[in-house]
Amino acid sequence: MFSRFAKPTGSLLSRAFSTTLSNNANVAVCGASGGIGQPLSLLLKLSPFVTRLSLYDIAHTPGVAADLSHISTKASVKGYLGPDELHDCLKGAEVVLIPAGVPRKPGMTRDDLFNTNASIVRDIVNAIADVCPKAMIAIITNPVNSTVPIAAEVLKKKGVYDPKRLFGVTTLDTVRSSTFIAEAKGLSVKSVNLPVIGGHSGVTIVPLISQCTPQVSFPQDVRDKLTVRIQNAGTEVVEAKAGAGSATLSMAYAAAQFAESLIEAMSGAVGKVECAYVESTETEAKYFATPVMLGKNGVESNLGIGKLLDYEKKLLDAAMPELLANIKKGEDFVNK
Ligand code: NAD
Ligand code: LMR
Repeated sequence: MFSRFAKPTGSLLSRAFSTTLSNNANVAVCGASGGIGQPLSLLLKLSPFVTRLSLYDIAHTPGVAADLSHISTKASVKGYLGPDELHDCLKGAEVVLIPAGVPRKPGMTRDDLFNTNASIVRDIVNAIADVCPKAMIAIITNPVNSTVPIAAEVLKKKGVYDPKRLFGVTTLDTVRSSTFIAEAKGLSVKSVNLPVIGGHSGVTIVPLISQCTPQVSFPQDVRDKLTVRIQNAGTEVVEAKAGAGSATLSMAYAAAQFAESLIEAMSGAVGKVECAYVESTETEAKYFATPVMLGKNGVESNLGIGKLLDYEKKLLDAAMPELLANIKKGEDFVNK
């Protein structure tokens, strides 16, 4: 069933030198000097789909931009430092990726980041609403379950909210799931695709192994362990990094994959599908990750949750209270 997923063909590096692709996107990265921001900006600089790369952060962007600008690929690169330069950074941006904000340390939940990261996302999205209200906005900053509703409320207050153009980036959950399942089954990871629905924290991450392409089956105990590993994969990295942050390199890869699919779809490519946390009517949660078909204007159609097995229905039930609470917390933050 899940041939509905598109995976990029060829490595980012090999495609950086392709002359056959003609997409031209102006992309801004907000939080560009960070653990995710730097490798993500590198991958975007290597992308044949990016013409202009605008890098914003409250620290180090002159250096990051100078460094990247020496790479012999087509995107022009410019750094913007501090709030006084945020508006200039966003001028003409068609896609804005937001990895600005603090990451977890061992023992923390993503929700523990709310107090610091909520206002960071609010302020950046406020500027987007003023400067490039039609841009596609892809939010990486945690807690994604709440930062996306925060962004939506900010955009609504400014009268420029378009639900088709606002995404919470959950691509890392699908990247990880494909990797773990390919490892478990001895499959080529390129051939493995499965949807991960719900939200992006612990039990709200719901992998749909029954919808994996190719079809795979596991004994129940193995399947349950795999599910828990996918749900806790972020924590696995946080603990391995032992206080030095959370996933950065795999996240940069995942965000670059999402950005490229989106840019290609914006340029008219058909069949670009990614899972993303978007406004949704699939469940009682106002925002919910599912596979979405991307198009010129962002979300072209929501491909929905498909047919769930009983154990997946239970996972979904377990996800709902936390997801609903996270969404409400984000909305209340803006509307309080
Ligand atoms: P980091 O601390 O290495 O980098 C964050 C960057 O944000 C820093 O360069 C910092 O200067 C910048 N920043 C802080 N406040 C800012 C502001 N007001 N405006 C612009 N930039 C600002 O952290 P990281 O490892 O890159 O993680 C960033 C965020 O991404 C975290 O919230 C983390 O939890 C989240 N994350 C999400 C996913 C996901 O799947 N969506 C995966 C991994 C990490
Ligand atoms: C992840 O899934 O790796 C990110 O959400 C970062 C984290 O805090 O786990």
